[in-house]
Amino acid sequence: MSLLEENQATDLENMVGLSRRGFISAGALCGAAMFLGGNLLSRSVLAASVSAGNSQLLGFESIAAATSDTITLPPGYKSSVLISWGQPLHKDGPAFDPSGNGSAEHQELQFGDNNDGMSLFEFPGENDRALMAINNEYTNYRYLYPHGGMPQSAEEVRKALACEGVSVIEVQRKDGQWHFVQGSRYNRRIHGNAPISLSGPAAGHELLKTSADPQGKNVLGTFQNCANGKTPWGTYLTCEENFTDCFGSSNAEQKFDAAQKRYAVVVTSKEINWHQHDERFDMAKNPNELNRHGWVVEIDPFDPQSTPVKRTALGRFKHENAALAETGDGHAVVYMGDDERGEFIYKFVSRDKIDHKNPKANRDLLDHGTLYVARFDAGDGNADHPKGQGEWIELTHGKNGIDASSGFADQAQVLIHARLAASVVKATRMDRPEWIVVSPKDGQVYCTLTNNAKRGEDGQPVGGPNPREKNVYGQILRWRTERDDHGSKTFAWDLFVVAGNPGVHAGTAKGGSSNITPQNMFNSPDGLGFDKAGRLWILTDGDSSNAGDFAGMGNNQMLCADPVTGEIRRFMVGPVGCEVTGISFSADQKTLFVGIQHPGENGGSTFPEHLPNGKPRSSVIAITREDGGIVGA
Ligand code: FEO
Ligand code: CA
Ligand code: CA
Repeated sequence: MSLLEENQATDLENMVGLSRRGFISAGALCGAAMFLGGNLLSRSVLAASVSAGNSQLLGFESIAAATSDTITLPPGYKSSVLISWGQPLHKDGPAFDPSGNGSAEHQELQFGDNNDGMSLFEFPGENDRALMAINNEYTNYRYLYPHGGMPQSAEEVRKALACEGVSVIEVQRKDGQWHFVQGSRYNRRIHGNAPISLSGPAAGHELLKTSADPQGKNVLGTFQNCANGKTPWGTYLTCEENFTDCFGSSNAEQKFDAAQKRYAVVVTSKEINWHQHDERFDMAKNPNELNRHGWVVEIDPFDPQSTPVKRTALGRFKHENAALAETGDGHAVVYMGDDERGEFIYKFVSRDKIDHKNPKANRDLLDHGTLYVARFDAGDGNADHPKGQGEWIELTHGKNGIDASSGFADQAQVLIHARLAASVVKATRMDRPEWIVVSPKDGQVYCTLTNNAKRGEDGQPVGGPNPREKNVYGQILRWRTERDDHGSKTFAWDLFVVAGNPGVHAGTAKGGSSNITPQNMFNSPDGLGFDKAGRLWILTDGDSSNAGDFAGMGNNQMLCADPVTGEIRRFMVGPVGCEVTGISFSADQKTLFVGIQHPGENGGSTFPEHLPNGKPRSSVIAITREDGGIVGA
């Protein structure tokens, strides 16, 4: 930043007044900075302040942390359960069996387990009827089987696979309340054994061929489906995350190659032993099966007969979600995080432009384009509100040192081993990138960096957007693209919030940034969602022990932030042992759908039915205002 620009920034900060708690960020000051002639990249993301608690955007009182086995909301709000694990999707379908004795076939006809990311698709011209596509990430053996342990047969592996994938359901609203429509012709399970196509540059590659699929184009199943994306052309994107965990080897001495190691496959997983009962997951017998997972899968929710498609042009890694944007000249952009310690943030830009008039013309838009990975500079080192600049590096065979000399024979290999290619170009190793969302108000992009206990070790230097050693609390990164164009190769970044516990620790490193207080503190931000008014909703997947570093934080929760003032208020607290993940809104913004995943993960919960000795069940809940108003306003 030049001296002149520094003075301009100081003037702007003075204009809005400084204080310790809370800050106004680039969004609010953008107009002023433009007026003063700051070009985006040389203009810093400006930190200034307002007093806490005066946001005009947040129309509810922040609630206290809680440890109860229920949904806690601000006064004037209520919630209901939309659907829970095991609910039958079809007319006369098999009912949920709390004993755990239900078959795999039954589970394939029921709502999946551990719901995560979800999108709502309204029927054209109808306000009270919609489809929802909802991810089912994994299952909890403790509740799935009568024995409560790892699967003991091929049938039990099939049942676990039936819990995962995606559920598509119809929902209807009556008297202001949304309900699941059992028996709708749109209701559908796309589970871990469902037929899926591979498309894009890597489809048919040698590394994707197996004895069951010598063409390398037809996969069985999508599983470990974390978060999601919704395209402007009306399709759903489901993102395969911890797929590697599903694989093991019958050869205790098996040695893995560099790529397999980089995707963290091991001989014996602590949590999943599917390879013992299903050869598909045995690396000694079907090593290429591993390469057929870890993709973004596109689904047309309005066509129950359609075959979902794995879009290989978007790269293979442990995908969290897929955030859609559009370049200034009309190309689709997909922002994506790779959730593993020290992995990267990516973006894909389509070769062709989005056809907004003819949605079906975009059917193969995600098969052609360019994948990039993010590199961040060290920033200004400000502890409370660091900021700096970054760039997107192209991951194309023949460019940036990605070629035979670095071990890549072709573009398909670059995509299949995207992590290795991104390392060649020295992308920035991040604190576990989780969700990414794009502000509907100013186009700034927000990404949760959930935590990283290994920061400072293992070739992961402290600094830039990852400023803390052994980071147990996480932070939310934000960037603004040059010229506000998602097609730009450069951007300015800042940290919107650095989570911490000011009730236990002094100072930013563990107490958090100035917009964290003992009243709103949380750890491990994960899910994110913007509503139409530009409120940023933050969902947590953290330590809910309520002790030590996490004392006073209570159960996992959902907060809501004003992106302009930086103020954050706690809106909802989930039941015991849950993660709060998955968020969607009705078009009129009067219902907020949110996912309660793995309540009672380690016992202690009977959410949502609260039956004596009842099993906890992951559920989607619908939150409304008692006066029927807009949620959060
Ligand atoms: Fe499925 Fe990274 O969370
Ligand atoms: Ca997550
Ligand atoms: Ca997480």
